[in-house]
Amino acid sequence: MMRKTLAGPALLLSLAVTATLAFAHGDVAPQPVNTDALPEVGEEWLVENPYRADKVGDEVWWQAVMIGDSGFNQNCARCHGLGAVSGGLAPDLRFLEAAEYGDEWFAERFQHGYTQDGTTKMPAFGEILGQKAGWAIRTYIETRPEDGALDAHKDRLGAIRDELMAGGGDDAALKAELMEIAGSVVTASGAPKSDSAALRAALALDGTEAAKKHAAEMLTIGLSAAH
Ligand code: HEC
Repeated sequence: MMRKTLAGPALLLSLAVTATLAFAHGDVAPQPVNTDALPEVGEEWLVENPYRADKVGDEVWWQAVMIGDSGFNQNCARCHGLGAVSGGLAPDLRFLEAAEYGDEWFAERFQHGYTQDGTTKMPAFGEILGQKAGWAIRTYIETRPEDGALDAHKDRLGAIRDELMAGGGDDAALKAELMEIAGSVVTASGAPKSDSAALRAALALDGTEAAKKHAAEMLTIGLSAAH
């Protein structure tokens, strides 16, 4: 597992900010996550993510990513950063290995949180959100693209975006090209499948005019995040 090493002054600053944050947000109510669409996983906590594509197929995997996206950004992002890109207050979760060790560590922290010297640094989520939400969030985190994952395709994605905005382009061909670009996106966790603006745009395209605008917006968001 990789960790960012903080230099002395930065570490002190980060600890001070974390303490303030824990105080300011200590009482924030956890936001429920609707996991009805996901397969049941039983009561006992598993040691491995059950929602990977090789186990449940692409469709359920993608549903887990979407549910995890919402669950993460409502419950975890205030400490671990929007889109799981850490601002330094809490560890950057994108680097947690998408393998058994990373899964076990994730499940442990998710269920029990972390308390140090009587201070809750991270609340426990296991009882409140449940196991299905936990693994959905895990699925979302491990599919996060590496920093700058779309940089090599920036110009082409911008051109596709403009084409879609103008309502032009051959839908099926653009969808296939976006899927191909999405397939080249690498995760920081080592997970074989990644989420990206290119994938979201490709999946949005369904042959309708409204979908073209929607896909164009996803690319705009992805391209602005890349800068
Ligand atoms: C109030 C702030 C806060 C919130 C909210 C929070 N965390 Fe954390 N989390 C932390 C801190 C601080 C640590 C580091 C604890 C330590 O030193 O081991 C941490 C550690 C972790 C770790 C271990 C990472 C590692 O590299 O060791 C995981 C996994 C994790 N959190 C997942 C989550 C998930 C998932 C959520 C949302 C459901 C969440 N956290 C919500 C503050 C938070």
